[in-house]
Amino acid sequence: MDNIPISFMVNGASIDAPTTDGDMALVDYLHERLGLAGTKFCCGIGECRACTVATRNGPNATMQTTLSCSTPVDSLNGLEIFTVEGLQQGDKLLPLQQAFLKHFSFQCGYCTPGFLMATWVLLQKLQLSPISESELDDAIEQGVGRNICRCSGYVRYYQAIRELALPLTREHLS
Ligand code: FES
Ligand code: FES
Repeated sequence: MDNIPISFMVNGASIDAPTTDGDMALVDYLHERLGLAGTKFCCGIGECRACTVATRNGPNATMQTTLSCSTPVDSLNGLEIFTVEGLQQGDKLLPLQQAFLKHFSFQCGYCTPGFLMATWVLLQKLQLSPISESELDDAIEQGVGRNICRCSGYVRYYQAIRELALPLTREHLS
């Protein structure tokens, strides 16, 4: 029983982690075992959200944000995990990435993978369950309001996210 690996998916690839890695934080596993260094480690105590990845419990489940610094590998059985590397589609940037660039949302960029993944999750939730425009600011606050940017790019992140989310509101869906 103890030797049954911990099975999960990362960006569509099946992973069987040995139980000896069960105590590792997901962010360390991504960096050290999978060579995926895009997810950033900062506070390590669940406060800054630089380490945000997206997870869901099966293809039909709702996507959620997960703090990879505070999530041990042995809690991942059956989960699908998506990191910033998983957003890549060939050599093209997603509209989400283009919007962050267009609005000069980031400076050093250390917080950007966390903002990208939190926004990606938010946009998917809005696509599945459209809200009215008057509810959008609250939804953005809930989706990314706890992500910390030490370079204080909040207003520009907000502008980019609002531009992406506005067409998904009920008033703008035709
Ligand atoms: S590194 Fe700060 S919340 Fe994970
Ligand atoms: S751009 Fe530097 S921490 Fe956000």
